[in-house]
Amino acid sequence: MNYGDTRPDCLDFNPFKAIVTPRPIGWIGTLDDQGTPNLAPYSFFNGLGAYPDQVFFASDGAKHSYVNARDRGEFTFSLATEELAQAMNKSAATLPHGVSEFDVAGLDKGQPANIRTPFVAASPAAFECVTIHTMQLEDRTGKLIDRYMVIGEVVRTHIRDEFVKDGRFDTVGARPIARMGYRDYTTVQTAWELLRPDD
Ligand SMILES: Cc1cc2nc3c(=O)[nH]c(=O)nc-3n(C[C@H](O)[C@H](O)[C@H](O)COP(=O)(O)O)c2cc1C
Repeated sequence: MNYGDTRPDCLDFNPFKAIVTPRPIGWIGTLDDQGTPNLAPYSFFNGLGAYPDQVFFASDGAKHSYVNARDRGEFTFSLATEELAQAMNKSAATLPHGVSEFDVAGLDKGQPANIRTPFVAASPAAFECVTIHTMQLEDRTGKLIDRYMVIGEVVRTHIRDEFVKDGRFDTVGARPIARMGYRDYTTVQTAWELLRPDD
């Protein structure tokens, strides 16, 4: 099977998100114009590179996280884990202005050191980020689409002490969750090593 812009009838949904997988979840903290903390998951999220450590997330529509990260110039990332999955999902709810997802999801706020936006205190790892670029994206013809991207640089990294083992972040122990397609998720439960030819 192959197809272009028109999906064949035998596929009930666009499988794009089920193919580009697993996608790490950027659990994004921001502050709104009143200073109320906002929290939402974004699976169109990833690292862009290290030294300097940079991340991006992309928003379908100009959602609060995008607007806040653009207008405030900062955001946080918290690692979403198996233990925090229900809270992460609750934080995806659309809430009235001034109501914080931290409160609705029952999450304590971790206090940032370099910026003002809190992160999820219970998360094994979190980043404080400064917004570098925000942009509206285009399609292949150059037409602006209702999609927005934020690129940020990590200015402080928080790791809960119990997740540092033998000089490394214990990724498997943290049990990060990631998005697949539809309503499916996966959990990091194993790791295997593959040395590079030049190692
Ligand atoms: C696991 C998960 C991943 C999500 N990823 C995205 C995403 O990449 N882009 C997006 O626009 N919305 C995504 N959403 C939906 C947003 O989290 C949701 O619209 C939320 O209300 C946005 O909140 P905000 O307006 O406070 O930023 C995702 C939801 C879940 C549960």
